[in-house]
Amino acid sequence: MSHSELVVLLLPSILSLLLVFILMQRKQARFNLPPGNMGWPFLGETIGYLKPYSATSIGEFMEQHISRYGKIYKSNLFGEPTIVSADAGLNRFILQSEGRLFECSYPRSIGGILGKWSMLVLVGDMHRNMRSISLNFLSHARLRSHLLKEVEKQTLLVLSSWKENCTFSAQDEAKKFTFNLMAKHMMSLDPGKPETEQLKKEYVTFMKGVVSAPLNFPGTPYRKALKSRSIILKFIEQKMEERIARLKEGVEDLEEDDLLGWVLKHSNLSTEQILDLILSLLFAGHETSSVSIALAIYFLQACPGAIQQLKEEHIEISRAKKQSGEMEMNWDDYKKMEFTQCVISETLRLGNVVRFLHRKAVRDVRYKGYDIPCGWKVLPVISAVHLDSTVFDQPQQFNPWRWQHNNARGSSTCSSAAAAAAASSNYFMPFGGGPRLCAGSELAKLEMAVFIHHLVLNFHWELVGADQAFAFPFVDFPKGLPIRVKHHTVI
Ligand code: HEM
Repeated sequence: MSHSELVVLLLPSILSLLLVFILMQRKQARFNLPPGNMGWPFLGETIGYLKPYSATSIGEFMEQHISRYGKIYKSNLFGEPTIVSADAGLNRFILQSEGRLFECSYPRSIGGILGKWSMLVLVGDMHRNMRSISLNFLSHARLRSHLLKEVEKQTLLVLSSWKENCTFSAQDEAKKFTFNLMAKHMMSLDPGKPETEQLKKEYVTFMKGVVSAPLNFPGTPYRKALKSRSIILKFIEQKMEERIARLKEGVEDLEEDDLLGWVLKHSNLSTEQILDLILSLLFAGHETSSVSIALAIYFLQACPGAIQQLKEEHIEISRAKKQSGEMEMNWDDYKKMEFTQCVISETLRLGNVVRFLHRKAVRDVRYKGYDIPCGWKVLPVISAVHLDSTVFDQPQQFNPWRWQHNNARGSSTCSSAAAAAAASSNYFMPFGGGPRLCAGSELAKLEMAVFIHHLVLNFHWELVGADQAFAFPFVDFPKGLPIRVKHHTVI
């Protein structure tokens, strides 16, 4: 084919591409987009946005962009034109308008690894269906009747292995605790058994891939994680088949009142859906809670006043139990942990386990005079509000007292009106909001409270060597948060 023939052949495609480009530019010109910088072609500003920074800050990228463009700015992130929001009002609006104006939109690689039926990926009816199953499994009634007991049992199991004057990774211990809890409650797996330990090992490889760059080449963490994913799924499927066989035989084990049993008996999910549900709940419930516990250990050791007040609260609870001759913690004990709840809120506010959420606009949206075009990615950065000095007094300080005397565990007695308003749910969103509000938020708080209860009653701890939480943007202690403990019995 001659050159001129080739040009004639390709010309229509080139012209149509050009036309699409011009139309897109024109359409964008119609919009009053927020200020910002679209960065390099395709890469945009993704590398700067994902650069690690201290977890108790918003990072240099956000600081610079907010000071240059304001709390709402445009950028190009994860290969897409994006609106970034550090604005409390817009964040709330985005989350509340889920399904109408905005929709959950995590990068495709997340679906590749967590599965296409994972709750982070699903939208619409299927999301609602999976959500209601998860909420049922994590309901208030189940927390009281099943989970509190199990949370305490798993806490004591981990803490009883801590040896006097030994140094170990507090982050690993917290992970052990939350993994064992989830594995028990989802599939009745017992901690320490070879199959549970094998699953935990695969899960560690899997997690490394979830948080790595989605490069599917031999030897990459992402490729290894995909392999671990299939091993984990095979394991869950085998458990499922054993359970189905037992159900058919009519042999019901009351001990196995778990998620797997519940979905098999009460839902009509396919095998593939059940596998993705269990895998994604294991992911959602294990990583976040363990990091939160590690953060509490980290913040508290630098705040003796808070440890002292926690001790007083928990000694009181423990003393009352001893007097009544009870051993196990009950719901009334949990309800008495008021200052502990302040510590939990403050840990989540300052540590920001989940820093931003992924959404996209499903319609053209106008907010405070700015346009958000349909199809654009939208990132509500919840951590930016938690660390905003116009919203929280001295936001970099760990100050659990700012949450005190609050009936809804959100309002504050701080004198300034801004601080009082800050504590309302408009500003404090560690668990997201709207129709996708974290399904496990109550369980997460319960886990933290019970862990803190036994920790302060039984141990004194100190950090060994410098370590601090970084946002990668997933939050992690690079050295695993090494601590040394001393036993003490306070009552
Ligand atoms: C401190 C610990 C935790 C934090 C900070 C946290 C945070 C979040 C956030 C911010 C979301 C919203 C994601 C979005 O809107 O895109 C979310 C969703 C979710 N979380 Fe958590 N989470 C925690 C613990 C847990 C636990 C223990 C579980 C239980 C297994 C859990 C299960 C879920 C589920 C199932 C969703 C999806 C909800 C939906 O899409 O409807 N989380 N979490």
